[in-house]
Amino acid sequence: MNSKELKPIIIAIDGYSSSGKSSMAKALAGKIGYRYVDTGAMYRAVTLLAMRGGLISGNGTVDEAGLVAALADANIDFAVGAEGQRTMLNGEDVEREIRSMEVSANVSTISAIPAVRRDLVERQRIYGEQKGIVMDGRDIGTTVFPGAELKIFVNAPAEVRAERRFKELTAKGETVTYEEVLENVRYRDMIDTTRAESPLRRADDAICLDNSNMTIAEQDAWLIARYEEAARRD
Ligand code: DC
Repeated sequence: MNSKELKPIIIAIDGYSSSGKSSMAKALAGKIGYRYVDTGAMYRAVTLLAMRGGLISGNGTVDEAGLVAALADANIDFAVGAEGQRTMLNGEDVEREIRSMEVSANVSTISAIPAVRRDLVERQRIYGEQKGIVMDGRDIGTTVFPGAELKIFVNAPAEVRAERRFKELTAKGETVTYEEVLENVRYRDMIDTTRAESPLRRADDAICLDNSNMTIAEQDAWLIARYEEAARRD
């Protein structure tokens, strides 16, 4: 047992969509008493804002000026309720709506817009000012917190991730096929890794985790061990 004190740190968890990083991040934050920030939920909330405001057309054309103006007035935050952490858009609980296939189909387009990223990265950095935070996303270790004390990059093959997402969506009563979900996962991988602004990539100092063959309990234990190492480091 290492008796050295655990100092508050920033934990950045990045990875491909449906890699299980949000569940890992949430579980870790709960166990160690850190704040958890799901940045994917923030991009999803902005996507919903665009859809509701008629600022994104069927073919994916976005009224960027309109969206930037709407975003400047928007409040995006998290609340903790009986059902766990909820994403709030202008005071409304949008947790369920932001996970729909419609939002998933548009979120890559919205998250590739530089002005949207600049706005959200600024909001995300404010959450990190006090340290003691677990943040997950695509560019946390590379752009939001390049100096984070612990960076994890999670991955698993697209088929494994699509299978997980398919189970999640059908359990929630959404009518989708596995093929549709796989197509969406692949499409998001492509956009996430090839966009000009903050593409998804592993930070040079991030620890890689392929969790294809790990149980949730194994992943959680692995992550706690990485946290304890990092929080004890000088
Ligand atoms: O993690 P998720 O599937 O909920 O993320 C939704 C989308 O948001 C995903 O397609 C990529 C984008 N995203 C991003 O570009 N940068 C982040 N930091 C987090 C998510």
